[in-house]
Amino acid sequence: MNILSVKDLVIEYPRPGKPPFRAVKGVTFDVRENEFFGIVGESGCGKSTLAKALCRLQPVASGTLAFAHMPRGAVQMIFQDAVGSLNPRKTIGDALAEVLAVHRLCPPADRAGRIATLLDEVGLPADVAGAYPRELSGGQCQRVSIARALAMDPRVLVADEPVSALDVSVQARVLNLLADLRSRRNLTILLISHDLAVVRTVCDRLIVMHAGEIVERGEAKAVFANPRHAYTKALLAAVPDVSAALTATP
Ligand SMILES: Nc1ncnc2c1ncn2[C@@H]1O[C@H](COP(=O)(O)OP(=O)(O)OP(=O)(O)O)[C@@H](O)[C@H]1O
Ligand SMILES: [Mg+2]
Repeated sequence: MNILSVKDLVIEYPRPGKPPFRAVKGVTFDVRENEFFGIVGESGCGKSTLAKALCRLQPVASGTLAFAHMPRGAVQMIFQDAVGSLNPRKTIGDALAEVLAVHRLCPPADRAGRIATLLDEVGLPADVAGAYPRELSGGQCQRVSIARALAMDPRVLVADEPVSALDVSVQARVLNLLADLRSRRNLTILLISHDLAVVRTVCDRLIVMHAGEIVERGEAKAVFANPRHAYTKALLAAVPDVSAALTATP
């Protein structure tokens, strides 16, 4: 079953005194429930623009995007700059408590327990709740931002370059975490990356974008085994192999 249908989607940025800049030029694709779906392409091809539109953070010029019966908060986004997305003056526990409080996700008396559970779910010890973002590594901060998204009990995670700022070995562990969460929580994950190596090991299907358009699509294995578009071939030629690191980490 499809959880997301995108049809002829066009996204534009207004420009003073000029016609708007068309960042996404009519893309059509579906994402299945519980799928790990990759959106790949080089810098500037329109990935983040598309991601923001999926999360309703960006208006669309034309076309449609529809999630199958999603309650509020069911689509959550994760960003590249995990450290910067956390308030430096709040402890991790306070930041998570705030999400739980603002969205009335659990009674105040249950918050501490819920925070410990969320941290555990992303592989962090409970005492991280007392830490400030600057005291954590980039990978730990990204885990915290994943925990913050999970607090909303999402059905879909849109992860925009979630591991680009991390070392390769840490990348592998965060990707494995996302893959685990997909299974454990029956999540659908849209993974956006300029790096085919990142998408290669975890995604079921993917689209390759170039200059606002989809130039290739299919099962990840098939696309990697037999890329058709010259642009995909060029991207693949530039890929270091993280799959060894991925299989080596628990
Ligand atoms: N707020 C904006 N106003 C005008 N143009 C923008 C804006 N944001 C992005 N663009 C342009 O839209 C195009 C797509 O940008 P986008 O950020 O979606 O690319 P991307 O694929 O996410 O790139 P990256 O890999 O660098 O994150 C680029 O040409 C960019 O310059
Ligand atoms: Mg981007």
